[in-house]
Amino acid sequence: MENDSLTLTDNRTGATATVPIKDGAIHSTDLRQFKNSPDDFGLMAYDPAFLNTASCRSAITYLDGDRGILRYRGYPIEVLAEHCSFLEVAYLLIHGELPTEARLHEWNYLIMHHTMLHENVKKLMEGFHYDAHPMGMLISTLAALSTFYSDSKVIHDPQSRKLQILRLIGKVPTIAAYAYRHSLGLPYVYPDNELSYTANFMNMLWKKTEPKYAANSVLSRALDVLFILHADHEQNCSTNVMRSVGSSHADPYVATAAAAAALYGPLHGGANEAVLDMLDLIGSKDRVPAFIQEIKAGHGRLMGFGHRVYKNYDPRARIIKQIANEVFEVTGKNPKIDVALEVERIALEDQFFVQRKLYPNVDFYSGIIYQAMGFRPDMFTVMFAIPRTVGWLAQWQEMIEDPEQKIARPRQVYTGQPVREFVPLEKRTPRPVMVA
Ligand code: ACO
Repeated sequence: MENDSLTLTDNRTGATATVPIKDGAIHSTDLRQFKNSPDDFGLMAYDPAFLNTASCRSAITYLDGDRGILRYRGYPIEVLAEHCSFLEVAYLLIHGELPTEARLHEWNYLIMHHTMLHENVKKLMEGFHYDAHPMGMLISTLAALSTFYSDSKVIHDPQSRKLQILRLIGKVPTIAAYAYRHSLGLPYVYPDNELSYTANFMNMLWKKTEPKYAANSVLSRALDVLFILHADHEQNCSTNVMRSVGSSHADPYVATAAAAAALYGPLHGGANEAVLDMLDLIGSKDRVPAFIQEIKAGHGRLMGFGHRVYKNYDPRARIIKQIANEVFEVTGKNPKIDVALEVERIALEDQFFVQRKLYPNVDFYSGIIYQAMGFRPDMFTVMFAIPRTVGWLAQWQEMIEDPEQKIARPRQVYTGQPVREFVPLEKRTPRPVMVA
């Protein structure tokens, strides 16, 4: 075998084997040849949180956490954020190449002509309680779309996949806006296909009685950039769910609903809402040092700080910080920015955070911007889910087309009882139970 290999010795038996290394990884199934006894299943890799396990090959997003690099299809995120619209980046993620002018025009047209929701979907959303969390509404409505588009089950047909992708990217902002208006008791606003993706979203959120909504161009561009930054992030928790659910050949609507459910958690996309709660709790700049001491004493986490992969500054957080100033020029400053900047300043000087390589992540500043634009914190994760839908779909499509992918089915290390003799009900004596 060539030098690209790893030689392993099993000290239990003395067996030695050389396994190939491809693209910096060994195949876990190559470990199975190490057996403790002939009927042993074989050695497994134990990695409960995928800390060091690649679950797929992917050509979509490149991330170097140590150097703070993020690229979509080879293009640095900073370049895309500066020069592209969100739908241009969506095209890139889905198709692998940047569109020509003609292709972009067609793509914009197609997405914007899939923004309408079936009236029954609207009715379904009307049934939610007045204080329903918009993420709960989004997740449920995404799953419900599966019942409207039974043609989505033919996941191996590229044309059908394309149609579902257009529908999902087109309809997610409409669902999000309806959820928002529902919580305010306002009538739903239908999409305006003449507007850009983000300007139309603003129209559906904030239009009142004016005949045509005119979006503020600074705010719609800020939304465009925020959406670009959130569009994909390789194998994060929700993307892993998208691939996992999709691997059973479930349709993309239920898979997207499942991915959105994963995003909802406060350790993932729900962190932006948690950051605002935290900043409210801190209250003012002078109370930051005491709050940081509490965190260091083990009372909670600094929300919006830390990342599984970035152990250097999150490049998205740097761009978001710049956008904040542009947005505040229009909306007025969100006073929480001063508290946030103080948290960042103190944390970045503190050895507790430095040693653990904890830096602000994408969620640290996004919520402050969204709040300045007029969103309530419970909408923040929805704002994350809209652009991430593109990443989920790009990853789902790649997974479906990948001949190496099978149904996701991890192994386990069994820690339970060995085989036991059954005791009839009348002869059982009380035993301590693990689950009450
Ligand atoms: N505040 C305080 N301490 C922290 C934080 C934090 N935000 N994050 C990690 N730590 C500490 C841990 O307590 C641990 O310390 P120890 O070694 O003394 O036990 C160490 O840093 C390593 O933490 P892990 O939990 O092992 O790191 P992991 O990679 O599993 O977690 C995560 C990453 C979930 C993002 C974590 O940093 C966190 O909870 N952050 C706050 C929530 C957040 O902002 N999530 C958004 C992430 S970005 C996104 O999903 C879009």
